[in-house]
Amino acid sequence: MRYDVSVIGLGRIGLPLALSFADSGLSVLGVDTDQNRLQAIRERRMPFKEPGTDELIARVQLDATSHAAEAAQARAIVLTLGTPAMSHIEIDIRDIRTVLDDLLPHLVEDQLIVLRSTVAPGTTEFVAGYLEKHRSFTVGENLFVAHVPERIAADKFMEEIHSLPCIVGGVGEASGERAGQLFEPLGAPIVQTSPVQAELAKIWTNILRYATFALPNLLMMDCERHGANVFDVIELINRDYPRGGIKMPGLTAGTCLRKDFAFSEERSSAPGMLLAVSRVHETVPLFLVDGVKRRLAGTLREKRVAVLGLAFKADTDDERDSLSHKLIRLLERELADVSVHDPIVATPTSSFEDAVTGADVVVVATNHSAYSTPQALRTIAELAPEALIVDPWNALGTAQVFAYVAEVAALRA
Ligand SMILES: NC(=O)c1ccc[n+]([C@@H]2O[C@H](COP(=O)([O-])OP(=O)(O)OC[C@H]3O[C@@H](n4cnc5c(N)ncnc54)[C@H](O)[C@@H]3O)[C@@H](O)[C@H]2O)c1
Repeated sequence: MRYDVSVIGLGRIGLPLALSFADSGLSVLGVDTDQNRLQAIRERRMPFKEPGTDELIARVQLDATSHAAEAAQARAIVLTLGTPAMSHIEIDIRDIRTVLDDLLPHLVEDQLIVLRSTVAPGTTEFVAGYLEKHRSFTVGENLFVAHVPERIAADKFMEEIHSLPCIVGGVGEASGERAGQLFEPLGAPIVQTSPVQAELAKIWTNILRYATFALPNLLMMDCERHGANVFDVIELINRDYPRGGIKMPGLTAGTCLRKDFAFSEERSSAPGMLLAVSRVHETVPLFLVDGVKRRLAGTLREKRVAVLGLAFKADTDDERDSLSHKLIRLLERELADVSVHDPIVATPTSSFEDAVTGADVVVVATNHSAYSTPQALRTIAELAPEALIVDPWNALGTAQVFAYVAEVAALRA
């Protein structure tokens, strides 16, 4: 075999993993169909921000190709392809099936196929069955299949790949053992389980976060209805209370949280519960726009609105499935004049000063740390003294979701 491992899908998950395998001494082939991405890799440039990987890509050897079939030249093949949810609440495994079809004629006995993508329960057994059906392998005996889900947060890959327990769900004991051996050099503790338990553990890690953040968002809407301050209520709930606490509100989305719940919901025993969680989050942009309209005499037409932040998560450059975009679309449908600033994303945006100058409304859509400085609030006060500040994160420290610059106590401090 020419390589120890190939990684198919060099996205936010696959590329850092391929680099980490290479760093641990394995020979690695990366596969991606995106030519721009391959070009960046060949030039040893990271196509996105992930702390610690710029140094790695400059140092380690990572061969790259666009042909999935070539991945069969490796002892182990790891699939890190996208697994979106279809709009009718069902996992979309088309990329996985395409790649399996490309690989099928080239697979040889004793190879290990690892599903690293997030998948609906039962998908790993489907992959094993698909390979048996089309190539007469006996998975667990002469071909090995495992699910090794990825639970690392964006921006923390290089920290957590070596420490976060690595869940391994092998189809048969031998598949689990081989997958464990592949990931062992990365240094994290290996936890063996069944494929379906690994699948459930991954999606429920994300469902727990998604549901947890829905509660403060619903509370924020409740508070608006009753004329209460959500930050005060959260403080009352959490202060010296020994049995856990409620999180802060915000625009909760992103490519994983926004779809992984669907992998449970597609066969739910309580259909609709997680959809309701999703609806709470998806309503937050509209809640903010409606709240602004109520305070601006019912219309946003030709009002200048500055949206701060495009990324779905603080201090990352990842805009995929960010609710900022939905917020901007809703504002534009109200005929507002929208300007946008984000200090990190690759999409070109205005400078902070240009975005907020003369704004009638300033919305903090992403809680980037750049916005949580006294200077950020002072600049808004100086350049947009009449503005209504909308900050569901309390990133600026206004301590209210909707507050006029003139009434923000923090400015006077
Ligand atoms: N991004 C995260 O933070 C995160 C965290 C945990 C788990 N996951 C899961 O990991 C998986 C991958 O996510 P991601 O964010 O890295 O996705 P991504 O979209 O960034 O990467 C997928 C890559 O696969 C490539 N690709 C598509 N079809 C291909 C084909 N036929 N052959 C070769 N390459 C192909 C794409 O060009 C892309 O570069 C998903 O299942 C996701 O749910 C993501």
